[in-house]
Amino acid sequence: MLRALLSIIFILGVAPIASAQDAGAPVEIDRSATGGAQTLEDILRRQRGESIDDSFRSNNIGGDATSVPGLGPLGGASDPELWRALRYNKADITVSDNTEVGKVLVQDGGMRWYQFRQGPLAQYGGWLLLGTMALLLVFFVLRGRVRIDAPATGRTVTRFASFERMTHWMLAGSFILLGITGLLVLFGRMFIAPVFGKEANSVILIASKWVHNNVSWAFMLALVLVFVMWVRHNLPNRTDLVWISQFGGIVGKKHPPAKKFNAGQKMIFWSVIVLGGSISVSGLSLLFPFELPLMGKTFTLLNDWGVPGWIGMAPLDTALTPQEEMQLTSLWHAMVAFVLMAIIIAHIYIGSVGMEGAYDAMGSGEVDEAWAHQHHSIWLDEVKAKQGAAPKDATPAE
Ligand code: HEM
Repeated sequence: MLRALLSIIFILGVAPIASAQDAGAPVEIDRSATGGAQTLEDILRRQRGESIDDSFRSNNIGGDATSVPGLGPLGGASDPELWRALRYNKADITVSDNTEVGKVLVQDGGMRWYQFRQGPLAQYGGWLLLGTMALLLVFFVLRGRVRIDAPATGRTVTRFASFERMTHWMLAGSFILLGITGLLVLFGRMFIAPVFGKEANSVILIASKWVHNNVSWAFMLALVLVFVMWVRHNLPNRTDLVWISQFGGIVGKKHPPAKKFNAGQKMIFWSVIVLGGSISVSGLSLLFPFELPLMGKTFTLLNDWGVPGWIGMAPLDTALTPQEEMQLTSLWHAMVAFVLMAIIIAHIYIGSVGMEGAYDAMGSGEVDEAWAHQHHSIWLDEVKAKQGAAPKDATPAE
């Protein structure tokens, strides 16, 4: 009987709290008993890992016995109060090196950065790459290799000159090294340390960081060269619409006409330029810590344009500490890199196993006319017209 009674009291007491939390509704906490200071419920909620609106503390700095009569919630000026001001970056302090970086004595955002990096960033990023590879595998099994329909002509045309190929491989080689070393730095503690030990992990990560920092210059240089070399071939035009409407001939048997680059390749090009550019800029900011802070400025611009409002968000906080600048930059750098890595995995697939004859374009630079006619018919005609030969359909050599 007593047990039943206790159960009912327990259910009546706990259920409303649980259902309000399940619904995600913020639970108003009554702090009148503590005069506005922390309550037991605050502590319990923090221990349960629930998110807390702690503005009741962060906005409550500077009270003392005079401003809060009768020793109110804050009491007299006290150590906890000083620590709170330090934690929320509101204390007026002087440090010996007198820099903004040095003035941040307690770094409140560090834990949030660490948890996001080890949690959602690593998890979703890892799954994005594995998922892309799995999808490509399924696509390969279902669709098979894109074959050249007509027999080889034995005649070749130059698709990329040696400088273009050298630049492409500089971009590709550096990107792959940056990708691998970046992933090692992110996942080393999770996967290398438990298997090979912390010492080995440390050596591998120090080497990875060195390679990552130094190879980045090759990537940035190649990115600029690729942009200058190919931008004019990547401006959108009407043939792209035809190409897209026919799914680029990848699904189905039709092969839509294309100039030097088709719409799919243009998407790859612009992804590499825009995302690679963003990775480069954020990378430079990380390479020279605290000297090129970009996040606060970017957030100010976004707020000015009203971007957060478009998705129902409050304006972004632009008063970032130098440390927060670096933390947000590092997360942005990694997130964009994950997206570009997924895109590049698809590019590598189509440029190698996915399409017969494609690799030659970047390998030797020479492609068979049958391949060129199938995938870039307008470009082939242009090349042949330039060479003085009348444009003609690719017919097999005897
Ligand atoms: C082993 C890796 C790679 C292979 C096998 C590969 C292969 C190729 C091939 C065959 C082409 C020419 C396609 C054609 O003739 O139309 C090409 C073009 C291109 N590649 Fe790569 N590539 C690789 C890595 C990369 C990486 C890492 C990047 C950039 C970070 C990149 C960026 C580009 C761009 C922007 C183009 C021109 C647009 C396009 O064709 O999609 N490639 N690649």
